[in-house]
Amino acid sequence: MSLRLRLNLLIAVLSLGFLATLTWLQIDSHRSLIQEEIGASHRVTVQMLSTAAQASSVFGPAPSVMLGFLQRLGPVHADEIRLYSADGVVRYSSPSSTFMAGRHAPDWFEALMRPKLEATVIGLQGARIEIIPDASSAIVEAWGSMAAVFLLGLGFVTVLHAVLLLFLRRLLRPTEADARRLVATSQELAENREVMRLIQAGIEDERKRLARELHDELGQSVTAIRLIATSIARSGGAHGRAQGAGKINEIAAGLYDSVHRIVRELRPAILEQPDIAAALVELGREWRVRHPDIELTLALDGDLGDLGEALALAVFRSVQEALTNVLKHAGAVRVRLALTRRDNRLEVAIEDDGSGPAEDLTGSGRGLFGMRERVAALGGSLDAGVRPEGGFSVRIMLPLQGDSS
Ligand SMILES: Nc1ncnc2c1ncn2[C@@H]1O[C@H](COP(=O)(O)OP(=O)(O)OP(=O)(O)O)[C@@H](O)[C@H]1O
Ligand SMILES: [Mg+2]
Repeated sequence: MSLRLRLNLLIAVLSLGFLATLTWLQIDSHRSLIQEEIGASHRVTVQMLSTAAQASSVFGPAPSVMLGFLQRLGPVHADEIRLYSADGVVRYSSPSSTFMAGRHAPDWFEALMRPKLEATVIGLQGARIEIIPDASSAIVEAWGSMAAVFLLGLGFVTVLHAVLLLFLRRLLRPTEADARRLVATSQELAENREVMRLIQAGIEDERKRLARELHDELGQSVTAIRLIATSIARSGGAHGRAQGAGKINEIAAGLYDSVHRIVRELRPAILEQPDIAAALVELGREWRVRHPDIELTLALDGDLGDLGEALALAVFRSVQEALTNVLKHAGAVRVRLALTRRDNRLEVAIEDDGSGPAEDLTGSGRGLFGMRERVAALGGSLDAGVRPEGGFSVRIMLPLQGDSS
């Protein structure tokens, strides 16, 4: 039950208690008053009629004299007077008092207020007078005054209740400071949720980036070791050299598998070189040294000096992976790497004259997939597949933001 409802109920119970007490006090006081008033009136009437009865025989036959007296007397407040003949016939009954005539109190109230007074009988020669206390007018009068007091009390209690409720509402209503605090807290919560969401998204992005880096960084080196070891083993040198080369190959193969396993969970390493042209020239130089039997040509076109770190890194890693794929899958003699800045986009192409893929490209490899992810993150696109003239090609298009040239 809410605090406001409990306070409401408490005030209502107290109000009703107050009204009930007020009513009971009124009833008690009016009942005593009626008892006293009717009793006193009755005593006066009895006294007066006793005196009149004693004097009546002096002026003639007592019943007739008394009848005349009573008829002249008319209604008597708070008493009903009846004159009976000796044979019990009612010869006179006093008219009702005009005071409060036509008005009535409820029966339960009448029963509650009616005083316990006995009728008085006065004997005459040949007749008797009966004086019956009559409190009905007094009871109606008490009812009227009590109803007025009750209504007044009810009005007072209702107004008091309403005032108290207004006061309580104001007292219990959250202040402006409370409301501001609530709004601030809920905003803080919403911000915290947003921060948590951003952190989660950041962690996910970082994991993907690390996985890509691990794949690109280590995958290339390990593939190179395997190829060198294979060529040593094939060179037909001393038995020990061949065995060692075989071992290197074996270890490199194991390392490669481990890298693949790790790649699925994690990905590291950052290229800190934003000058993509210089980075690719260096990459090409190293590649040619390592793989002298494959002819690599490099074509750089347009201003490639200020592409931004993210874009330069994406291009560098993609080229690394594409060249590694040439070594792994193509069996090529020639590879061409072209980087062209055209209008507001950068185009990258890595083409070889190898045998093309052994099967379709939907295998478990992560290389092309990672390249696509990188490129898509920068708003670009990647196409990879068999060239019409034979061999394999990877084509990348990257938009250059804010470039209007
Ligand atoms: N230059 C290429 N010549 C022939 N086939 C290629 C060439 N590049 C990619 N492929 C084919 O595309 C597939 C997908 O390449 P991707 O780089 O995604 O995977 P992977 O090289 O097999 O494995 P990972 O890169 O994860 O080590 C390769 O398995 C291969 O069949
Ligand atoms: Mg690959």
